[in-house]
Amino acid sequence: MIDLDEHVDLERGVMSRRVFVDDDIYRLELERIFSRSWLFLAHESQLPKSGSFVSTYMGEDPVIVVRRSDGSIGAVLNSCRHRGMKVCRADVGTTRVFRCSYHGWTYGLDGDLVSVPNMAEGYRNELDMSRWGLLRVPRVESYKGLVFGTWDAEAQPVEEALGDITFLLDTFLDRRPGGTEVIGGVQKWVMGGNWKLAAEQFASDMYHSFLLHASAWQSLAPEGADLSEMVFPSVGSQMTSQGSGGGWFHDPTGAGSAVLGPMLAADYTDPAVWERLGEVQAGGPIGCHATVFPNFSFLGAFRVLRVWHPRGPHEMEVWSWTLVDKDQSPEIKDAWRRFASMTFGPTGTFEQDDGEIWTDLQRVSRGHIAQTVDLNYQMGIGHEVTDHPDYPGRINHVYSDNAARGFYERWLELMKTPLRPGQRGNATARAGQEVTR
Ligand code: FES
Ligand SMILES: [Fe+2]
Repeated sequence: MIDLDEHVDLERGVMSRRVFVDDDIYRLELERIFSRSWLFLAHESQLPKSGSFVSTYMGEDPVIVVRRSDGSIGAVLNSCRHRGMKVCRADVGTTRVFRCSYHGWTYGLDGDLVSVPNMAEGYRNELDMSRWGLLRVPRVESYKGLVFGTWDAEAQPVEEALGDITFLLDTFLDRRPGGTEVIGGVQKWVMGGNWKLAAEQFASDMYHSFLLHASAWQSLAPEGADLSEMVFPSVGSQMTSQGSGGGWFHDPTGAGSAVLGPMLAADYTDPAVWERLGEVQAGGPIGCHATVFPNFSFLGAFRVLRVWHPRGPHEMEVWSWTLVDKDQSPEIKDAWRRFASMTFGPTGTFEQDDGEIWTDLQRVSRGHIAQTVDLNYQMGIGHEVTDHPDYPGRINHVYSDNAARGFYERWLELMKTPLRPGQRGNATARAGQEVTR
């Protein structure tokens, strides 16, 4: 097994690109990151009534997130206990049961096995159905409409686990009293590049935006506008805490919102919203880019939610939602949906810039010699502030690798800590033999 400390030196701010290409590291991530972190599953608005479900993934494991008959939200592994086929092949819908399309084992909304074809002739009625339900995700909890799940039954509550990043999340989720909803379905696409390239960039990288996205920004700017002043004021901050992080410019007047066009700018800087959030959060963090460790990201000013599902070391599957305030008019909601698609949809002006970079960057990293050359994560090192008067977490300039270093600090900590013996997800545990649920 590869020595992680040899490849990740956050005190010096250098990393080897082996962490983006190595198969053993990838398998360890599935075990030690994805089988015990809180992962974003769905938004509550996608599950309006009993039997509503969405299919998603936790790492590479398919799961069904479902509104049960008692109104609670649960999640189960989408894999039949007979031969392992998915019991739900739809992305989204409403149902009373999940019936496996291979041999017809049928499960209730909470995962219990409720019927088995040919029970009498085939199993001689000897199958103990109570032992063969779908595997339940032991903890599913919501934070302001966002539903998270973890395989770690003893994980801290999700709100505690989110920690300081709620400071940024709240600018997105708590703008108006009615909360939020997702609209327009989910956009999904597969892209070359390790999942961490995207997660790290959304946490920590405003640095690329002016150059890489120059033409995208110009296409949004009003006639004759000075972009360097409007979108990129010289002062900004970046925070990191518990692996999560985000960055923003200080924009106390909301001047940068001109790129949204008059209708969306008026919604973005609505005085009622700014008053509710307060001067500190509204005057910068509201427009943040951010990642909730490990693979859930959002862009405040674009109303975009993201999950970077890992698909082997070299690919990721991107899922993208538009999130709007429930209390807003249908016209404004739809305008946000179109704006989010135009900029950060799969063919979005900004999205294509980033996707091309990650795909190409990953190709370079496959090179044998390239893997012997370290990467630089030193921007702003030694200039962190941990007692900022306004912002929680560890703060640095918006142009820094502060949040990237924070992301890999958490990554390294989890990667070096084995799962508890017998814990679900532990490669050495014979999970599924001793218990069936
Ligand atoms: S695999 Fe599901 S019923 Fe056989
Ligand atoms: Fe970008």
